[in-house]
Amino acid sequence: MTEDDLDRVVELERAIFPEPWSRFCFLAGLRRPRTICLVAEVEEQVKGYLVVWGNGELHIANIAVASEARRQGIGTRLVAACEDFARSSGCRSLCLEVRESNAIARCFYEGLGFVQTCVWQGYYSNGENAVIMERKAIRVAPG
Ligand SMILES: CC(C)(COP(=O)(O)OP(=O)(O)OC[C@H]1O[C@@H](n2cnc3c(N)ncnc32)[C@H](O)[C@@H]1OP(=O)(O)O)[C@@H](O)C(=O)NCCC(=O)NCCS
Repeated sequence: MTEDDLDRVVELERAIFPEPWSRFCFLAGLRRPRTICLVAEVEEQVKGYLVVWGNGELHIANIAVASEARRQGIGTRLVAACEDFARSSGCRSLCLEVRESNAIARCFYEGLGFVQTCVWQGYYSNGENAVIMERKAIRVAPG
């Protein structure tokens, strides 16, 4: 991800999430150390993005794929790509929080080997619980 991608990334973010990150959040991610911001492009158009940060334990802070581009392996490839970063920075686990109601994302993460470790009650601003998921071993990224 570069600053040139931000118009499209923010457009997708607003279309996908009820509480979208601002442009500033993505810009801060691009400038923050120990942070990786990736975009997935199909025919030179951004169709997905991922923001991951951390030290020791990597935290998936944001991931999304454009609705018309889902179920094509883009989300899986984004997570796989960040694992190179994880290995090179000595991280041995990935974690994230996901809305309890987000069955699709939970299914996606479970398929990637994440397991639920706990629930944070009322974590989101609408009172919804967050499910915390973690994957201990960093697998070799698929080709
Ligand atoms: C979650 C998300 C990133 C997955 O991206 P994606 O590119 O569609 O995922 P993939 O194509 O790599 O799917 C991998 C696997 O996840 C599971 N999966 C993905 N979407 C699914 C769905 N709608 N229903 C059931 N399982 C699903 C399947 O097991 C799938 O493998 P398969 O297609 O071979 O059956 C995408 O649905 C998305 O952007 N959702 C909205 C944003 C969001 O919720 N982000 C996560 C916040 S924590």
